[in-house]
Order: sequence, then C-alpha cells, then structure tokens
Amino acid sequence: MTPPATCSIGLIGLAVMGRNLALNIARKGFPIAVFNRTTSKVTTFLSEDVRDDDPVQGALTLEEFTGMLERPRRIIIMVQAGDPVDATITQLLPLLDPGDIIIDAGNSHPDDTTRRAKDLPEQGMRFIGMGVSGGEEGALLGPSIMPGGPKDAYEEIAPVLKKIAAQVEDGPCVTYLGTDAAGHFVKMVHNGIEYGDMQLIAETYDLMSVGMGMKPDELCATFTEWNKGPLESYLIEITGEIFSKPDPETNGALVDVILDRAGQKGTGRWTAEIALGLGVPLPTIHAAVDARGMSSRKHERIQAAQILSGPPPLQKADPSLVSDLHDALYAAKICSYAQGFDLLRTADRECGWNLDLGEIARIWKGGCIIRARFLDRIREAWEKNPELPSLLLDEEFGGFLVGAQAAWRRVVARAAATGVPILAMGASLSYFDSYRRERLPQNLTQAQRDFFGAHTYERVDRPEGEFFHTEW
Ligand code: ATR
Repeated sequence: MTPPATCSIGLIGLAVMGRNLALNIARKGFPIAVFNRTTSKVTTFLSEDVRDDDPVQGALTLEEFTGMLERPRRIIIMVQAGDPVDATITQLLPLLDPGDIIIDAGNSHPDDTTRRAKDLPEQGMRFIGMGVSGGEEGALLGPSIMPGGPKDAYEEIAPVLKKIAAQVEDGPCVTYLGTDAAGHFVKMVHNGIEYGDMQLIAETYDLMSVGMGMKPDELCATFTEWNKGPLESYLIEITGEIFSKPDPETNGALVDVILDRAGQKGTGRWTAEIALGLGVPLPTIHAAVDARGMSSRKHERIQAAQILSGPPPLQKADPSLVSDLHDALYAAKICSYAQGFDLLRTADRECGWNLDLGEIARIWKGGCIIRARFLDRIREAWEKNPELPSLLLDEEFGGFLVGAQAAWRRVVARAAATGVPILAMGASLSYFDSYRRERLPQNLTQAQRDFFGAHTYERVDRPEGEFFHTEW
C-alpha cells in the first residue's frame, strides 16, 4: 500500500549543499522527502544527519519520492549543474502531474535555465531557476536565495524560502527576481563579484606579505581591524581567521603551505563571457578569472621564475602603505560592484526581468559569500535613484573614490615598481580612469579602422550619427 502524501516539499541530490538545505527546511517545520541517485546516500543521511524530530522521509526510488509529496508537488533539484539536471528532470517528468513545480537550485548556467524555462511549461510543469549562496553553512543556517520563474509558482514556495533564508534586519534574504533565468543570472553575477572580491583581497595580501614582509600574525591583526570598518564582510573576516590558522605539520601558518593554484567551477568565467557578449566592461572580474588561470600554470611559472628577472618585491615600505592599501581595496571593490551591477542592468534591459537592484543588494546582505556592510550603502544608492547610470556616480561612492584615488594610485605605482602583480586592483583603477574621462584615445582606433577598412568615423564638431570617410 502506498503511504499518504505528507511532505510539503521534496529535494533530490544529497551532496553537501542538498543535505544541509534539506535539514534547514525540515528544521523550519516543513516535512520534506529526499532522494539521491546513489540511494546509499539516502540511508546514510537518514541515519547520520537527520535527528529524530526532523520531519524528513527518505525515498529509495523516484516513484516512492513523488508519491510522498502533496499536490501540486514542489521539488527542489540540487544536483551537479549541466547534464545531471536534465537527466533528473527527464526521469521525473513521467511521474509528475500538470502544475507541479520543479525548482533547480544548483549553479546552472543562465542559458540552460532559459531553455528549461521554455521547455518545461510545454510539458505542463512550472519551473523555477533558483540560485542559492552561502556554502555549506549557509545552506544549513540560512542562505541568500535568488529565485526566478513564474510568479505564481514563486508565491507558492515563498513561505518556505522566506523561513529558510538568512534573516537580516530588513527581512529574509530572498526576493522574487523575475521570470525564467533571472534568478540564475543574478546568482552568476554574485559569483563573478565574489571572484573579484577574492582576487582583490589576494593582491592586497601579496603586497603586504611579499611586498612589505608582513607576517601572518600581522596580517591577521590588520584584516581583523579592517573588518570593523567599511570593509566589514564575510570574506575579510575569514581572511583574518585564515592567517591565524597554524599548520600542524610545520608549525608555521597553514596558508604558507597551501599550493598557489586556484580551482574554479566556471561561474566567474560565465560572468565574464556573458559580459563580453553584452558589451559590458567588466575588467575586474575578467582579471580575477585570468589570475586563477595564471595560477594554474604552476610548472610554467617555476621555469619562468628562473629566467625572467624583475625588481626585488620586498622593499622598505612606509607603514602608511597599510592605510593606502585599505583605501585602494575599498575603492577597487566599489568599481568591481559597479561593473557587476552594470551587467545586471544591461541584461535586465535585454531580457525584461525588471530587476530591482536595491533588493538584490539587500538579499546579498546575509547568508551569501559576498555579504558585507557596504551592500547597505549600495541598496541605499539604488533606492535613492534607480536610474543612476553607475554606482560610481552615487554621491557617496563617487566622493570616496575621488578622495581615495591618491592612496590607490600610490598602491598601484608601488606594485608596478616592485613587480607585484595587481591584475584586479589595476583593472579597477583603469576602469575608474576610463569612466571619468570625457575623452578617450578611441578617436585613434576609429582613425585606424577607417584607414584599413573604410569603417568611417564621426566628428566631434558635427552631430552624432553623421559618418565620414577619409582617403588616408
Ligand atoms: P558537490 O560539489 O557539493 O559534491 P555536486 O557535484 O554539485 O556536489 O553534485 C553532486 C550531486 O549531484 C550528487 O547528489 C550526485 O548524485 P550521486 O550521489 O548519485 O553521485 C548528483 N548527480 C550527479 N550526476 C547526476 C546524474 N547524472 N543524475 C542524477 N544525479 C546526479
């Protein structure tokens, strides 16, 4: 006899994020059914992670799983992005009824979400593409949740999402973002911004340790101090903690024995690729992706270090460089977020999602990896003027950048003089310098294009849209 359908929601995919999200849902009082392709993980989860009073039911087949769910069914898929999502949906479809809601909570590429959002309604399903950020701990205790899809389907799952999301003083870190791929697009840009933040912090660390000879305990103290000011954020906080962690084998700092080769799952690269396609300048995030690419060429770099000499990076530094670095890091970070929000707005105009940029800054304030005090300032900037062309033109941010630029330029100049690479910090400064310049050297680019390809040019002394060609 089939048991009654008693679960208000179901979740497929019991890797670490899925397990923790399921526990979070159950512990907020929503009975949940779980399934995983490798069924031994269901049994292990039930015996090792689920407490007696957690309302969790495990299923060993998809038939059993779908049978446990109240109608219309609400199913969260949390499997590896790409083909596994399609494979899971294909297996599920024959077991579902029209009107059921499928929620892909993985890190799917927005193009995949757009395709699924078009195909699944043709099969009677309601499909939500939902970004979830916060890592392992966030999934369990309260992530930032970025859902997109049909509004009615969102409204039906909103009571669960609002309960399981991180809670900040102005509400739960979840909001309806827009149709089809809006949620996964916002999540992708979140990850791109995260790449930028991490790279800017890494460059600051490099200038402090390799360039100034600061030791892990001094680095820990500096980042801990910075976390009390405008840079206050999860990433600055954990950076301070990382410097205080000893390596049990060498008794030195653990960070010093970690191989300098960064992994990536692709979301930073997707952000950069999509920005290129949309013509949005995104130099800081491109630089962060490039820096990870360069880091992966470890063997080549070992060879190059023997051949390509440069200035000694460690040179006597004025202690005021630390305060310069603080301002440079904050300034570069503002420029990086300005780029990310520019990408969001440009994509929004293309796709018609009607994104609320202030709300996006708000739901990133808690739960997610880029959570930071200054997101409040970004929210205020967009609320004050939703039509602001760029965050750089916000009075407060713009004022800070103008004031901090002397320090920022000293940092970049020192990095160049001492041979410390600052791909992202330098990219942010050039972004600022390009954006604030009325005239750029692309007059020459236009002349060259006209020279070799008769591509024509406009003149500064004639109306825009009037084109000229010269026989060079
Ligand atoms: P993490 O990086 O957190 O370990 P992931 O690789 O993104 O997680 O996703 C792993 C999950 O996707 C697992 O639940 C995995 O199922 P198995 O435990 O059976 O491996 C699931 N998964 C991967 N490929 C799948 C597929 N083709 N069909 C169904 N589930 C799949």
